[in-house]
Amino acid sequence: MTLEEKARCVVGIKRSDFPPTNKGICARTAPFPSYGIPTLALADGSSGVHLSRREKDRATAFPSSMALASSWDTALAKEVGTVAGYEALRYNINVLLAPGINIIRNPLCGRNFEYYSEDPVIAGNIGAAYVNGVQGNGIGTSVKHFICNNQETNRGHNNALVSMRALREIYLKGFEICVKEASPWTIMTAYNSLNGLPVQENPWLISAVLRGEWGYDGLVMTDWSIVPHNTAAQLHAGNDLFMPGSDNQVQDIVEGVRNGRIDIADLDRACSKVIQLGQRTWHGSKNKAPDLKRGASLSKRVACESAVLLKNEGMLPLAAKGTAALFGVRSYDLVAVGSGSAFVVCPHVIQLIDAFREAGIAADAELEDLYRKYVAFASADIAYNEKIKVHIGLPLLPELELRRSLIDKAAERNDYAVITIGRTAEEGKDRNLQDDYYLSDTEKELISMVCEAFHAKGKQVALVLNLAGIIETETWKDQPDAILNVWLPGQEGGTAVCDLLTGKANPSGRLAVSFPVDYFDCPSAYNFPFEHPEEGKNYDFTDYAEDIYVGYRYYCTKGVKVSYPFGYGLSYTTFEYAMPKVKAGKKSVSVSFTVRNTGAVPGKEAYGIYLTAPSGGLDKPALELKAFGKTRMLSPGESEIVRVELPAEAFASFNEEAGEWQIARGKYTLSIGAEAEKPRLMMEFKRN
Ligand code: BGC
Repeated sequence: MTLEEKARCVVGIKRSDFPPTNKGICARTAPFPSYGIPTLALADGSSGVHLSRREKDRATAFPSSMALASSWDTALAKEVGTVAGYEALRYNINVLLAPGINIIRNPLCGRNFEYYSEDPVIAGNIGAAYVNGVQGNGIGTSVKHFICNNQETNRGHNNALVSMRALREIYLKGFEICVKEASPWTIMTAYNSLNGLPVQENPWLISAVLRGEWGYDGLVMTDWSIVPHNTAAQLHAGNDLFMPGSDNQVQDIVEGVRNGRIDIADLDRACSKVIQLGQRTWHGSKNKAPDLKRGASLSKRVACESAVLLKNEGMLPLAAKGTAALFGVRSYDLVAVGSGSAFVVCPHVIQLIDAFREAGIAADAELEDLYRKYVAFASADIAYNEKIKVHIGLPLLPELELRRSLIDKAAERNDYAVITIGRTAEEGKDRNLQDDYYLSDTEKELISMVCEAFHAKGKQVALVLNLAGIIETETWKDQPDAILNVWLPGQEGGTAVCDLLTGKANPSGRLAVSFPVDYFDCPSAYNFPFEHPEEGKNYDFTDYAEDIYVGYRYYCTKGVKVSYPFGYGLSYTTFEYAMPKVKAGKKSVSVSFTVRNTGAVPGKEAYGIYLTAPSGGLDKPALELKAFGKTRMLSPGESEIVRVELPAEAFASFNEEAGEWQIARGKYTLSIGAEAEKPRLMMEFKRN
């Protein structure tokens, strides 16, 4: 290749140069037909393949990543990757720009729904499973956003100030697991800076840690250049592909090599990575639409397995008979997926009201008429005003204010109520505290009025949460009789909610994030732009002052009460844990125990294995998740033996002064069970 060709090879091409097919994808690499190098198509894909609304093609919308992680099931995450990869293959897409595995550091980050967990072991392993699923089709993934892209406010310039220990143990850990377990074919470097240097220009991160220490052999691409960078520094740091690409970057590279600012060896490395990606992902043209039925049934299953039952005071599963009063706009207009690049243009979204009807459950016609008219009228208005936002989601309709008399009448006519409260979120901005993290006054009034009216008649109320991120629950959670959190449940969401409420499906999801009592209890509360940027604050940097004490690591260690803890989730059955065994070897520790379904209905049980390190040495969290999983479906009375091998490295902490991982000597405790502070079994072992 000539110098100019090499430069073009590592820079994405303009949309006007895309081939006429697949305009709906977001980027392409340059083709070189004379060398047999095809153009590669890249599309977003954390909840399914992101195609443009302008195209007629549709793809399956799966539950959001935050939901998927609540399944605590890596096999399920792999299945989602497999089907998303299959749909990508059929649409001639070579790389899915997913999964996002950044740590959920603060509840207000606008992209939390695209991420998995506040814990790196969950984020890394669920991410690895997704990657393995997608790549099994010969389609690449792009694990993103490397690294510390934990907020959206000022995302292009924000400087994350993070200690080396927190970086190693929390923020890099998930990426390390994912790289080692799944060898993703691409990694996307984030927009932000880390400790003063743009991560895209940081050779220590990309070349020394990612490639050197972890042995990563794939391609590194930049996130979508919303801010100009130093092209030479990006290339030298280890980026191989500049996205979405501009002529200026091509010129920069050509001139850089000519005037010695760019080492030709860096350009050759980048070129060879682009060619390697092509060899891995080029399959010729398929021109065969995917069978979307496959995705639809999996999407529903994932929604059922990811839902977390937060409260159930003798209400669920619903008795088969009776009529339901469905309240809340989201009962009629579900938020299936989040907005921004993770949005999926899917064939349909099943609404809760339609799923109830399909299941033969009578729903109140008067409420239905009222809400449907509101949704139709208000969405037409929003769709008109937001016409340009064709490829991403639309803003949510505000909750409808209802008169008390209307609710009282509904309480007379119906046997129980279901209220759905929803949230969306999108990249580029963080969530607000008021009317988003905290419920709006209208929502609070709706919950109080419906609960009062139905309880006065001796009738019960279930609340369905349809969330893109966590919300405040402590001040109102005592009112409804049951609370089911289904996150953003994907296109089949309504059916999944109906199956879960009626007991056709048994909830088995567990929280992979904690719900604090109040936003300001959160360890990063004050070190996050929780006030809107318009209010004149300067958000040039974010101090990760909580260090390694992120999420439950903080709440458990400092004894801070939460509303719903990490690992929490109820079931319609009960499980007994027994036969704990632990055997400590030099290289690993073998753990085994049995889980038995002691209830009356079939169910699955998610479990975690938490470690408490010996005291002395480095300061450590009270509990750290080291492994997790889920049993198969167990019938009443049936049991499963769980066997887990924990490698010695799992016990290491990063000593900043020594600049190395160290394993403390002494007595370790393992707490078994999904909920960190409610172990079902405990075991001890020693390391000398
Ligand atoms: C986002 C990435 C996404 C890319 C392409 C960027 O703005 O940060 O996550 O993959 O756009 O859509």
